[in-house]
Amino acid sequence: MTIAPVLIVSLWSCYPKGWPPQRPGYAIHDFAYDAGPYLVRTAPGRMAVVCAHSLASPPTVQWWVRPSKTSTTAPDYHETSAQMHGELWVAELQDLPPDHEVRYAISSELGLLGPFTFRSDRSRSAPFRFAALGDTRSGHQVHRNLIEQLAREDIDFFINSGDLVEFGGDHDQWIQFFNIEAPLISKRPLFASVGNHDNSQRLYFRRFFLRGSHGPNHRYLTQDWGDLRIILLDSEIEIRPGSAQHVFLEKALREGVQQNMLLIISLHYPPYSSGEHGSNPEVRAVLAPLAKKYGVELILAGHDHNYERTHLMDGTTYIVAASGGAPIRRVIPNDFTAEFRTEPHYILFDVSDHRLIGRALNLQGEVFDDFIIEPNPPRAEN
Ligand SMILES: [Fe+2]
Repeated sequence: MTIAPVLIVSLWSCYPKGWPPQRPGYAIHDFAYDAGPYLVRTAPGRMAVVCAHSLASPPTVQWWVRPSKTSTTAPDYHETSAQMHGELWVAELQDLPPDHEVRYAISSELGLLGPFTFRSDRSRSAPFRFAALGDTRSGHQVHRNLIEQLAREDIDFFINSGDLVEFGGDHDQWIQFFNIEAPLISKRPLFASVGNHDNSQRLYFRRFFLRGSHGPNHRYLTQDWGDLRIILLDSEIEIRPGSAQHVFLEKALREGVQQNMLLIISLHYPPYSSGEHGSNPEVRAVLAPLAKKYGVELILAGHDHNYERTHLMDGTTYIVAASGGAPIRRVIPNDFTAEFRTEPHYILFDVSDHRLIGRALNLQGEVFDDFIIEPNPPRAEN
């Protein structure tokens, strides 16, 4: 059955000359899928375009790498058919060259949606910007406002330190999450840590972020981007010495030091916090010695629904950025507190000259905290 186009617009100015070939009547629809399209970075040089919807045949992703401004050659156009993984359609785009913009559109019996533009991996030393927020949970209007604001920022990707939804076992909440995130996550991948509210025997977090189907079959992993090594941890499972996650973490840190990368850890439970939950002693006992030993520059956390940045603790900055929608809670600052705030916010990080420049912004776009994180040298032979 052919579904009549809802809205016809001229897409020809969006596409390179001569493409798509011989396809009159190209139409664009609003986000018509139950969820998506959204991006999942599955490996270096790869990006998966994902959507959820009951379809008679697989959607196709049409994509091309935008040539650099000095290039005189025409781009190569590709079509990648999505594969079904449970309820998800996944088209994995591969061999993406670094430091480029990639455009894609997704077509199916619902029509054409796009084009969307995302950034491929950054090469070493390349400057870029990313964002962080957390605890989006149940405050949908705040979550929506933050995402719409972030969608206007010039970022490569964004980090969520956990508690993406209120009840991780409720399928509808994940669909709602991806719908709220659609203006941003259709063009920027999300690097997510799992929070206590995301946990579920139904494994929705794992499924929606393709853990196992297109990457390791657990909820901790590493994402390298330019000079950054971002280590996403699962603070819902064992992390003490001897555990599989601890082995993974120490190996990721050691290799990051050997490659002279800036090290960021993202997890849900905060090692240092002056919020209502407070510092998590078990997590701090594991992470603080490793952060000192390997010279971790930044540890991002959530769980306490406020903003807090610490002074340098043995060279590491600890930040709680977790007012992405969950109820705001009070902060009673400690000696380790450098700055705190109790309102919805996100953080922008500029990575350049091998350091991080951070700015925390509220919903009015006001910068209420700014800081520089310099490289933190490791304290031991590795
Ligand atoms: Fe939490």
